[in-house]
Amino acid sequence: KAAPLIDPFARAITYLRVSVTDRCDFRCVYCMAEDMTFLPKRDILTLEELDRLCSAFVARGVRRLRITGGEPLVRKNIMSLFHGLSRHFETGALDELTLTTNGSQLARYAAELASAGVRRVNVSIDTLDAEKFRRITRWGDLAKVLEGVAAAKAAGLGVKINAVALKNLNEHEIEEMLRWAHGEGHDLTLIETMPLGDIEGDRTDQYLPLDLVRRRLAERFTLTEIPYKTGGPARYVRVEETGGRLGFITPLTHNFCESCNRVRVTCTGTLYMCLGQEDAADLRAALRASESDEALGRAIEEAISRKPKGHDFVIDRRRQAPSVGRHMSVTGG
Ligand code: GTP
Ligand code: 5AD
Ligand code: SF4
Repeated sequence: KAAPLIDPFARAITYLRVSVTDRCDFRCVYCMAEDMTFLPKRDILTLEELDRLCSAFVARGVRRLRITGGEPLVRKNIMSLFHGLSRHFETGALDELTLTTNGSQLARYAAELASAGVRRVNVSIDTLDAEKFRRITRWGDLAKVLEGVAAAKAAGLGVKINAVALKNLNEHEIEEMLRWAHGEGHDLTLIETMPLGDIEGDRTDQYLPLDLVRRRLAERFTLTEIPYKTGGPARYVRVEETGGRLGFITPLTHNFCESCNRVRVTCTGTLYMCLGQEDAADLRAALRASESDEALGRAIEEAISRKPKGHDFVIDRRRQAPSVGRHMSVTGG
C-alpha cells in the first residue's frame, strides 16, 4: 500500500477528481454562461495520458478516483478510461472509481460502468419539474436524465442525487425532491452555489444558504445526525420519516476545508490543489516531457507541498467578481 501524500496542514491526499472534458451538453445557469468557449482538442489530454496521470496518483496513495467534467460521458470513448483504471482494483490500490454526471447519457452507459467496477454514481438534478429543468440547464431533457437514473439503479449502481439549492428556483421543491429520491432508494445531497467563473446574472440572486433550508426541513422532518462518511465534503443526516440519507455541502455557511482530502486535475492536466484558489501546477508538461513517470511524480509531490489551507468564497452583492475566474466545469468540483 503506497504511503499517502501529506499536505502542509497534515491532511492526507487520498482522493483525486479528474475532469475529462470541459464540454457539456447542458449549460446550467449557476455553472456556465450560455455562450461558452471550450478548449481546442489539441490542449486536452488523451485518454492514455489521463490514465497515466490517474495511475501516478494511485501510485502515490490516492485510493478514490472521481471522473468529472464538464459532462464526462460526452467524451468520446470514455469507457476505455474506466476499463483501464479498473485494473487498480485488482492490485488493491484503489477503493473506489466513480463519476459525477448530469445523467443525460447515463441510460446508455450505466451497465458498462458497473462492469468496469463503478459502484455508485452522483447525478445532478436540481428540479423534478421538466419545464424548470429545461430553464436551469437551458435545454436539458429531464425525462432522459430520469431514464439514466433508472438505468443506473437497474444496473445495481448506488445513486446520489446532487441538487444545488437555488433561491426562487428550486427552494420550494426540496421536500418533493427528498421524498422522490428517498422513495427510489437514493441519497440526496444539497449544495450551496459557489462563486466560480462568470455567469449571466447575479449569484446573490441564486444563493440560498443551507442552514435556512435545513431549518425549514426540520419543521417537517426529523433529521438525525449520522456519522456516514463518503470521503466527500457532505455532512449527512438520516430523515426518519423516509429512512433516507440527506447530505449538506456547505462551503459558504460551514467551511469544511479542514478535513479536505482531495485535489483536482483538469482535462488539460492542470492540477488545482483547491477548488477555491488559483494556484495550479502544469502536469501536462511533466507528462509529455518524458515516457517515465519520474518527473510527473516529482511535480505531483511538489504541488501537494503547497496545497493551501482552504477557499475564501464570498457571495456578496458588494463583491460581484467570482472568487476564482474558472468555471466549475473546468475542474468538476
Ligand atoms: P462523494 O461524497 O464521494 O459522493 O462525492 P462529492 O459529494 O464530493 O462529489 P460530487 O462530485 O457529487 O460533488 C458534489 C458537490 O461537492 C459539487 O458541487 C462539488 O463542487 C462539491 N465539492 C466537491 N469537492 C469539493 C471541495 O473540495 N470543496 C468544495 N468547496 N466543494 C467541493
Ligand atoms: N456551485 C455549486 N455547485 C455547482 N455545480 C456546478 N456549478 C456549481 C457552482 N457554481 C454542481 C453541479 C454538479 C456538481 C459537480 O457541481 O450541479 O452537481
Ligand atoms: Fe453541465 Fe454540470 Fe455545469 Fe450543468 S452543472 S452545465 S450539467 S457541467
